[in-house]
Parts: sequence; structure tokens; C-alpha cells
Amino acid sequence: MTTENSCTHVAIIMDGNGRWARKRGMPRTYGHRKGAENVVKITRSMKESGIRYLTLYAFSTENWQRSKDEVDALMQLLNEYLDKELKEIMDNNVRILFIGERNMLSPGIREKMAFLERESAQNTELTLCIALSYGSRQEIVAAVKRIAKKVADGELEISQITTDTVSDALYTKDIPDPDILIRTSGEKRISNYLLWQAAYTEFFFTDTLWPDFSKEELCEIIQAFKNRERRYGKN
Ligand code: IPE
Ligand code: IPE
Ligand code: MG
Repeated sequence: MTTENSCTHVAIIMDGNGRWARKRGMPRTYGHRKGAENVVKITRSMKESGIRYLTLYAFSTENWQRSKDEVDALMQLLNEYLDKELKEIMDNNVRILFIGERNMLSPGIREKMAFLERESAQNTELTLCIALSYGSRQEIVAAVKRIAKKVADGELEISQITTDTVSDALYTKDIPDPDILIRTSGEKRISNYLLWQAAYTEFFFTDTLWPDFSKEELCEIIQAFKNRERRYGKN
């Protein structure tokens, strides 16, 4: 007998904003604006799906290497999102979390992030985790340092280190591993996203560019996921 998989956590690499804009003869930043609008739409549509965690890759550590103009525009959009979204988040009972290297972000943005996290901490419908200035290898390095310090301080024995010790030292310590990882825009790579957490995640790649990614397509993916056989190495 086969039972359907249940999906608790969906992670998305929201890729293709630049190409979406180029196809329309518009600047890349226009694509980012449309992409940000789609974040709001897709988050809203999660309510009916039974999914409890949504983790969105919004800006990678490596994205800091883009042109100053593009980085500035993305930070501006982020600022607007942080200013506007409190009501939407509270109305929809969404808890918001941010993962990534906060030190790289401006103090003003960091303050707004902390404010949204605090205000929404008791919300229960959906946890929206936004990966911002996030790189999985950097996250793992930070975790290794944290664990090494505990060992150096005599709080932890090397022999006590388990996979749980590592999981608990990551930014994602409070959320379960993703069941589904979706990448839009046709690229078939993970680009430094959730490397540890995605050990047994089911991957879905779609050619749809992020601003066009719809609730309907998300539902199709969740449906297809239900029928995948997750073996976890067993026979
Ligand atoms: C994803 O879209 C958004 C970010 C990485 C910030 P891109 O900006 O990577 O768009 P493409 O991949 O160039 O089309
Ligand atoms: C990954 O997309 C990061 C985000 C979507 C935020 P990129 O566009 O930066 O990835 P690469 O450069 O194609 O691998
Ligand atoms: Mg891209």
C-alpha cells in the first residue's frame, strides 16, 4: 500500500526576475518589483494548502557581487516590503523569520526585520522564512564556529557532536527540513541554498520565470510531490 506524502515545508529559489524583465524590454529592477509582488501573492495562496513553512530565497551572499545599481534597487525594494507588509502578515496570521548574514545589511533594514519578527512571533498559520544575504556554506561555517567554541569552552565534548548538534547550530534551527524545493527559471542548480537541510528534499525545476509562477503551478507541484516515493535510503 502506498500512502501520500504530506508536505509541511516548501522552499523556493525565486529565480528569473531579470530575464522576465528583459523579455519585455524593461530594466532588471522592474522584474524584481514584479517578483516581490509575486512573493505576496504566493504567500497568500499558501493559506489554503495546509503548508506550514515557506522558505524563500530572496538574496544570496553571492548576490552582493552584482552591480551597485542592482543591489541598491533590491535593498530599496526590501525596505518597501518591510514597511508595507506588517498588516498583511498580521491579517494572515503569518510568522516571519529571516535567515542569513544580517551584518551585511544596513542597520535600518535590520531594525525593520527584527520588528516584523517580534510583532509576528505569536502567529500560527504559516511561518514565512526569508533567506536574505543567505549562503548555505557560510551558514555551515558559522555553525562549525559556534560548535567549536562550545568545545573550546568545555561546554561540549567532541564525542557528543551529532547531526542534531549541527542542525541546531544553523539559522534554520527552529524549522523542519524542506519537503519540497522548487527552482524557477529553468536553472538546475542549488546556488548555495539549504545544502544541509535539503539532504532528503524532493526537487522540482520549472522553466517558469519567478514573476509568472502561480498558485496553480504550486498546487500541481504539491500534487506531484504527494505521489513521489521518498525512500530515505531504505529498500
Ligand atoms: C532572482 O532573479 C532574484 C535574485 C537573485 C535577487 P535574477 O535577478 O537572478 O534573474 P535572472 O536569473 O538574471 O533572470
Ligand atoms: C539564486 O539565484 C539566488 C536567488 C534566487 C536569490 P541566482 O540567480 O543568484 O543564482 P545563479 O547565479 O544563477 O546560480
Ligand atoms: Mg538568477
